[in-house]
Amino acid sequence: MNNVKPIKGFSKLSKEAKTEWLISNYFENPEKALSILKSYWHNNEDIQKLHDEFIENTLTNYYMPFGVAPNFLINGKNYCLPMAIEESSVVAAMAKAGSFWSERGGFKAKVLSTTKVGHVHFVWRGDDVVQLHKYFNRIKSLLISETDSITANMRARGGGILDIELIDKSNLEPNYYQIKGSFDTRDSMGANFINTILEKWSEVFENHIGDAEEIDKDFRKVEVIMCILSNFTPDCLVRAEVSCPVSDLTEGTDLDAQKFVDNFVRAVHVAEIEPYRAVTHNKGIMNGIDSMIIATGNDFRAIEACVHAYAARDGQYKSLTHVEVKDGIFTFYIEIPLSLGTVGGITSLHPMVKFSNELLGKPNSRELMEIVAVAGLAQNFSALRSLTTTGIQKGHMKMHLLNILNQFEANTEEKAQIIASFNNRVPSYQLALEEFCRLRGITPEAYAKSKS
Ligand code: MEV
Repeated sequence: MNNVKPIKGFSKLSKEAKTEWLISNYFENPEKALSILKSYWHNNEDIQKLHDEFIENTLTNYYMPFGVAPNFLINGKNYCLPMAIEESSVVAAMAKAGSFWSERGGFKAKVLSTTKVGHVHFVWRGDDVVQLHKYFNRIKSLLISETDSITANMRARGGGILDIELIDKSNLEPNYYQIKGSFDTRDSMGANFINTILEKWSEVFENHIGDAEEIDKDFRKVEVIMCILSNFTPDCLVRAEVSCPVSDLTEGTDLDAQKFVDNFVRAVHVAEIEPYRAVTHNKGIMNGIDSMIIATGNDFRAIEACVHAYAARDGQYKSLTHVEVKDGIFTFYIEIPLSLGTVGGITSLHPMVKFSNELLGKPNSRELMEIVAVAGLAQNFSALRSLTTTGIQKGHMKMHLLNILNQFEANTEEKAQIIASFNNRVPSYQLALEEFCRLRGITPEAYAKSKS
């Protein structure tokens, strides 16, 4: 336990004062801590200010590698995918899948639906729900017209409120009801739009119930619990697929095509029936998806929460990808809910997000859904191909080797020699350490001692 005292009004302090408080209270070497923070400040003051203002209490920036995966032929268009991710082998795996499928007809992707929802969650203590329905049906048009000024821009762009319903959940929680809204938010993710409408609905619904003659006098009152969009968007769905003759799958390798397909299909089926495998399988899919979500300035927490709820929608957590082999044709596909925005949020602010969007040809949200779904499918294809053939460690450790060597603080020449020594074998931490120590003429024990 440290003995740092709680601080009041921290957010009101200047950046310098916050930093000073932090480093003097939590760090053994405050000067070193300060220099780390400062080394990540952007040298362009405007860009730093932008980052300072994204959140509260910004002290510095947190870098992530930004890489690209070229050669993604999607619906006949060639894309280069932007990816922000720290895991060594993800971009390499993605690029491999892009090239592989661009030589086999590319990816096909299609948005299936784009509906988003939100709820006013409330308590009503009456005993005849028919009365509440009557009041709701009468006031429905007022709920919509009272949000006209909020929805005007969205309506002009072809979106807006799609539906508004009263939902009775009192069988699950006493006196619990919802006003459920369905929305089309066009190119924005729509969280602010939906939440603003829900709060207005709550206000109108609450304000008018006092005069609702449909309802017995004692029950002309609601208690609003909360108004919030749902990040579960099973009706904001996109499908991406690849297909080719089975024989084309192993072209240029010494693998047997039928054996490859049998193992691949079995691997997908395992993820459909075995949750322990399904979670890792879907995690690999999210490597591709999250890295693009971050690069394009979208909300990866919302996407993660939604995708995993969707994967468990039948009551058992399952694979998000599926495979079919019919008449000698292999088809691999994903259906996934992705509520994405290409306007709003930080999309017009963060320089790297703007860069990513330009790299992708300034897609609208539907196109972005298609591209990101492809990224998930491609990543899963690469993972399953490695897992069912060479094993995952060969490719993964090859990419991770540099991280290990950086941990040893190996110099450029040592790195080159050690990497070359792993040309024909799978690296591991221990083997890399042995090679490094051999080059330095020390024992691994002596190296460990020097670091302790
Ligand atoms: C590692 O980040 C992702 C994999 O584990 C995915 C998978 O097992 O399918 C390789």
